Amino acid sequence: MSVGVDLERLVGPGVDRVDGPRKVSGAARYAIDVDLPNVAHAALVRSTIARGRVTSIDTTAAAASPGVLAVITHQNAPKLHTAKRDMIAPPPVPPLQSDEVDHHGQYLAVVVAETPQQADAAAALFDVRYEPQPAVLTREDPEAERKSNPYHLDMGRGDVEAGIEGADALREAVYSTSACAHSPIGLFATVAWWDGDRLTVHDATQYAFRAREVLAGTFKLKEHEVRVVSPFVGGAFGAGLRVSPHTILAAVAARVVGRPVKVVLTRPQMFTGIGHRPDTEQRIRIAAAADGELLAIDHHGSTTSSVGPSLMYPITMGTPSAYACPNVSARDELVRLHVPPVAHMRAPGEAEGNFALESILDELSYDLGIDPVDLRLRNYAEVNPQTNGAWSTKALRECYAVGAERFGWSRRSPEPGSMRDGNWQIGYGMAGISYGHNQPKASARATIRDDGTAHVSSGTVEIGVGTWTVMTQIAGEILGLPLDLVEFELGDTDLPEVGYVGGSGHTIALGSAIHEACRALVQAFLDLAGDDPASPLAGCGLDDVRTADGRIVSVDDPGAGARYVDILERAERHELTADGASSPPKAEMGTQIKSLIASKHGEIGRKLVARSKGVVPAGAFGARFVEVGVDRDLGLLRVRRVVSAIDAGRVINEKTARSQIIGGTIQGIGMAMFEEIVTDAGTGRIANATFGDYLVPVNADVPDMDVVFVGGPDDMNPIGAKGVGEVGFVGIPAAICNAVFHATGRRLRSLPITIDQLL
Ligand code: MOS
Repeated sequence: MSVGVDLERLVGPGVDRVDGPRKVSGAARYAIDVDLPNVAHAALVRSTIARGRVTSIDTTAAAASPGVLAVITHQNAPKLHTAKRDMIAPPPVPPLQSDEVDHHGQYLAVVVAETPQQADAAAALFDVRYEPQPAVLTREDPEAERKSNPYHLDMGRGDVEAGIEGADALREAVYSTSACAHSPIGLFATVAWWDGDRLTVHDATQYAFRAREVLAGTFKLKEHEVRVVSPFVGGAFGAGLRVSPHTILAAVAARVVGRPVKVVLTRPQMFTGIGHRPDTEQRIRIAAAADGELLAIDHHGSTTSSVGPSLMYPITMGTPSAYACPNVSARDELVRLHVPPVAHMRAPGEAEGNFALESILDELSYDLGIDPVDLRLRNYAEVNPQTNGAWSTKALRECYAVGAERFGWSRRSPEPGSMRDGNWQIGYGMAGISYGHNQPKASARATIRDDGTAHVSSGTVEIGVGTWTVMTQIAGEILGLPLDLVEFELGDTDLPEVGYVGGSGHTIALGSAIHEACRALVQAFLDLAGDDPASPLAGCGLDDVRTADGRIVSVDDPGAGARYVDILERAERHELTADGASSPPKAEMGTQIKSLIASKHGEIGRKLVARSKGVVPAGAFGARFVEVGVDRDLGLLRVRRVVSAIDAGRVINEKTARSQIIGGTIQGIGMAMFEEIVTDAGTGRIANATFGDYLVPVNADVPDMDVVFVGGPDDMNPIGAKGVGEVGFVGIPAAICNAVFHATGRRLRSLPITIDQLL
């Protein structure tokens, strides 16, 4: 292909963020920064019980408080509707529609006032009376509602019991992970206003078009009557995929007072109001022959959820495709509690499932006396072992080799407790990663104008990952324009529609749409040039030309060509525009369906799948190598080094991709060593809902990090990329726990690791 991205170039240059200057100068407008004339401010009142009924709300004092414009409770709120279901971004329970409470922190009232301070002061004056009911707050509670196979994604193959029967080694263990809070620095905020029946919302969202759909459904509007504006989000990590109730309440309040209304969540409200990573408990059995060949994996995972609409949060789904093992069973369970809603949080499910699988493989490696890397290589999945489909690309072997080399894995002495550095016991641990492929739909529009600049747009959101930069790069590369002549516009549902910015699928999705739009635009220029028989481009197709320096030139004769601006001028046009769209490859649907057929219909399904042999789009792969130090006297644990070798296909911008891996690694350290939402057993109140109490990694916890990208372009999509947003998070918890075992001989199976586990 001559007009397109250069797939041969594996690692793109480390281009600076095009939105960087805007961010550091304060010119980037986040929802919290939006200021409108005549805006009123809302404060939210939350439940102080986990379950029951509100018997009375005395609003007299709040309503009489200075500056208060309105007080809205379930007694006077407008009727709202439940929007369409969706397993990625389920609608929230419409707020203020009844007296029922199903979690601590549920919104019970909105106060609207002239200033945020007046709203906050009035919100403190409510007198709420309850009739509490016993709340179900732990997975152990026999009253908890449990659901097996909640997402219809349970999978398996072969016969696990038979595999175990013939094995030389068997390991069984229970792993648990804590509930975690997304904790973005940017507080979620919404500014909403109505113009008749047209609703405009500035919001912190990763999925503006779903927000539009949910708002339209909630208020019974047509989708074109709702506009969601969201150029930047100050970190979201999945919390911005769902619409949270405060967004709806801002719109309710704006309608009631007939003015724009702004709501900014407080930090404690960020713990109850935007979702969290649920706690999990996993029971896993693994059996192998003496030479390390895996014979059975039996993985059961249990996740907690709120009682409202739940989302898809499978934690064992990655297990069947991770290793070549003939007998596998992967099953999930959902346990409903009276806790705040759950949201996806970076590598949702995959991170937890990987922790259990990669930990128990490490346990098995000691039982068998086989090096942990070797054990993984002995069970390397050459094809997707669940579907028998070929991976589109897989460089996991290189990840192990390059990562081990850079880390100095060969210096590891196998015996636990055998390496020291002064008072520190040193441990080396590793984990492998096979990440899934996700891809939403996307569309984009590209224009070249008579001043020689390009304008490319899509209604996506810059959630901090580098989208703005990478999309500008892709457009510039295809159009043959330097970055400073390419203006990318995003952040508005009036622009071309895209799906979620998450699931590590957005670069592929939108990149492919921009690829198509830009190629269509070059084609439009060729058509226009071809109207002039004297043009050197007359009769040329996309395969006959390439683009560079604002020109389209013939591949065969680089001297023959024309500038975009000259083509426009000759045709007396000011600009040309073209659209492009992308959808997930059919094979992606195929993967899921084949897995289901294989697991539901036993041998017949397996044969069917084996015969189909399609290529399936692979997600990213990776290997993580971690060195820890443990001070056995004090129980201190320090991560000293991390090496990450990642196969993310073609890396379009090494700088922002590396940032994704580094940021994910830090978040992984947080999950492994610090983060835990502590819920008060009696009341369901989150006891540590501030940054003083909820621990996240700080600079002193972050070691030297080495990131290396391996592998080649993935030709399942025209830009050759694979997702990079989540693979950098996965594997760290297992690698740290495996390193701790190597350092101390102590196996930790419960996250976060606390000092008492090490004393
Ligand atoms: Mo992420 S949980 O796909 O935002």
